[in-house]
Amino acid sequence: MMLDVNIHIFLTILGLVQVQVVKTSKPQFVQILGPKEVVAGVSAFYECTAVCSHKCNYTWNVKDQTFPGREFTLTENGVDRFVTLQCTVSDEDRKYFVSDVRSVTVINPISVKPSADQSVLNQTPKVGQSFRLTCDGVSRPVAITWLKDGATLKLNSRMSLSPDNMTLSFSLLADSDSGKYQCKVYNGNVTVISKVYLIYLGYVIINLSGPNRAEVGMQSKYTCAAQCGMDCTVQWTLNKGFPRGRFIAEGPQILWTPSDLGQTQVFTCIALTPGGENIGQVTKTVTVVEAQPRPRPSNAQSSKPSVAVVNFASLLMLVSACV
Ligand SMILES: *[C@@H]1O[C@H](CO)[C@@H](O)[C@H](O)[C@H]1NC(C)=O
Ligand SMILES: *[C@@H]1O[C@H](CO)[C@@H](O)[C@H](O)[C@H]1NC(C)=O
Ligand SMILES: *[C@@H]1O[C@H](CO)[C@@H](O)[C@H](O)[C@H]1NC(C)=O
Ligand SMILES: *[C@@H]1O[C@H](CO)[C@@H](O)[C@H](O)[C@H]1NC(C)=O
Repeated sequence: MMLDVNIHIFLTILGLVQVQVVKTSKPQFVQILGPKEVVAGVSAFYECTAVCSHKCNYTWNVKDQTFPGREFTLTENGVDRFVTLQCTVSDEDRKYFVSDVRSVTVINPISVKPSADQSVLNQTPKVGQSFRLTCDGVSRPVAITWLKDGATLKLNSRMSLSPDNMTLSFSLLADSDSGKYQCKVYNGNVTVISKVYLIYLGYVIINLSGPNRAEVGMQSKYTCAAQCGMDCTVQWTLNKGFPRGRFIAEGPQILWTPSDLGQTQVFTCIALTPGGENIGQVTKTVTVVEAQPRPRPSNAQSSKPSVAVVNFASLLMLVSACV
């Protein structure tokens, strides 16, 4: 009797031990702690936490690079708008790997803008005009350099920099000045690269076709097409309100069957570069009017085509029966 009970207890302990090993060798509660948003140039602190049966081994994977340790400091330069952080935890025996992933939004406070201290007409770049760009969002005195299309800007005879490099001036714009401009700000050991400002001096022709008056209950079609001196695509925006009725926007086309008499609708078509910069836009204001009376096709007329189709099909059937 005594022996039996002892064996039972022994087995129970064995079982428990077994269960414990299986349960705890896989890291649990793996979690990344830290901000969801970071500011370019400002270091952010991340911590990975987990529960392991022995010691947890932590590894970070960020932009195809691996960093050991439980903590990770992220310092972004503003080029990427999102960063994915991955923390992988394994137990000492490195049999199981458990990860947590966090997508972090990067806020870039630095941008290149047309200088506000020039005439309004000059604030849009045009061939033959003077133009000034400012590195905006810089708070402290820092070292600044300029980039054009991602490479260090080589000043030509029509360009000059202010003593602090905050302003890039063009005495006269030429076609060859087209490009993506950025300023690069050095603040001690941290670098921030601004958002892009596009100077585009090529041509843009946008053709937005469709009626200015749309009839209630009738479908109207609007089409937008753009021709540009570089690759460009078109996109619709409805920033002045959404059309009421049946509305379908598909690529360059809008199909709209308005429902409200008297509604005024603004359709805007934007020409965009492959990088998403707006290089031109056209708007059309459409007024919804009463449906116009129009001659209706008679029953006889509308049934004619289907008769022709039936005849054609029967003819085909006859032909195939003969073969
Ligand atoms: C932790 O894991 C990494 C990769 O899995 C390995 O290279 C490293 O040696 C491990 N560290 C320890 C202390 O086990
Ligand atoms: C201004 O820019 C030039 C050339 O890009 C660079 O050599 C110089 O160090 C910069 N000066 C300042 C004050 O940022
Ligand atoms: C920059 O330098 C400061 C001290 O000089 C240091 O505390 C900080 O961690 C450094 N940042 C980066 C991203 O290296
Ligand atoms: C504008 O587009 C319409 C329809 O898509 C077309 O009929 C017309 O010829 C185009 N006009 C120009 C100037 O390309």
